[in-house]
Amino acid sequence: MNYWDYIRVEQLLALQGGIGDDESKLTNDEVVFITVHQVYELWFKLALREIVQARNVFHQNPVPDVQLSAAVRSFKRIVTIFEQAASHFKVVETLTTRDYLEFRDQLIPASGFQSAQVREVEVMLGLEDATRVPLGKQKSFLEALKGEGGKPSSALVRVQKRMSDRPTLKEAVYEWLTRTPIYGGSHSEQGTIDFLRAFLNAHKKDAEARMHLAMTAAGSVVDADEIRARYEREMAAAEAFLFAEDDPAADVETKRKRRDVRAAAVFLESYRELPRLAWAREVIDCLLELEQAIIIWRQRHARMVERVIGRRVGTGGSSGVDYLDETALRYRVFNDLWGVRALLLRAPILPPVEHEEAYRFRVEDKSP
Ligand code: HEM
Repeated sequence: MNYWDYIRVEQLLALQGGIGDDESKLTNDEVVFITVHQVYELWFKLALREIVQARNVFHQNPVPDVQLSAAVRSFKRIVTIFEQAASHFKVVETLTTRDYLEFRDQLIPASGFQSAQVREVEVMLGLEDATRVPLGKQKSFLEALKGEGGKPSSALVRVQKRMSDRPTLKEAVYEWLTRTPIYGGSHSEQGTIDFLRAFLNAHKKDAEARMHLAMTAAGSVVDADEIRARYEREMAAAEAFLFAEDDPAADVETKRKRRDVRAAAVFLESYRELPRLAWAREVIDCLLELEQAIIIWRQRHARMVERVIGRRVGTGGSSGVDYLDETALRYRVFNDLWGVRALLLRAPILPPVEHEEAYRFRVEDKSP
């Protein structure tokens, strides 16, 4: 075996021929355009492998604790991939608008919108269809993946296969979180409710103290009233969020699951120093980091696009930059975990943990 053959470099270097499959007829700009896209697709491939591997870890009951650190490593690898990938848009920005326009029109209706692997990443993470931003004429993102004249395509087959590969990472992780033992060695509804009540009490006291401070500093009675109303809304929203009453249309089972996921996320973050909670807390933190990295990737893509083609219609037929900015704003998978960030408390005012000994590696002997 030698390097050249093992890495298949010869095959790799023969893939940048463009529409006519003849690289010698292409400008350097077009070869840059094709190559950077190919590099991206390779990164997406690696990210997908890690998402599936992590999903498989959480799709076990019980999740073996010895596998949590490996899942965290998977998430960290995906974060690094997306962070590095975002910086590649700088290479695309070496294309001037005029240079890109030289070959752009022949690409219509092709677009990154048809990247099956990006859709696979979204699907495997658990992005809900209802969240998707419609692309004008396209009925669904699946339509755009079809071949000429609406024929099935390998891109479509890939995405459909992923869609039938359940659960998503979100479903698997959330299922695991709902089993978090809050206030004791095993999960119980009462333990969860007791914790939420104690936490909300502490939250209310803290918010009220801040509200009074802000009201005292207010410049007028009108301002003070507005501040009071804002804090009162925040306190009510915290309670509605934690008890999953923020979506009255949801059925009882959905609400219970949401409540348990949110309670687990607050509990794990609040008492993260306890050794048996530490890895689970790390998982949640990494999921947020991962989603943040993907959002930043989307935003970076949009800024590159704005620089290269301005706010014109995309080759895929979308409004272009506006469409991309909307996806960066709306495409969130782990909303519950983000939501928790708004109501976490400082360590000194947290209610004490009941059955703390259940979360330590070993029980300390406190006898004199
Ligand atoms: C000059 C370079 C580029 C331009 C002008 C550009 C422009 C656009 C535009 C306007 C869209 C919106 C859909 C449409 O109407 O076509 C889009 C979507 C997309 N592009 Fe690019 N792009 C460029 C390079 C890249 C690169 C290097 C990647 C890396 C894979 C990429 C990945 C994507 C993806 C995944 C989407 C779908 C986003 C979504 O629907 O959430 N693009 N691009």
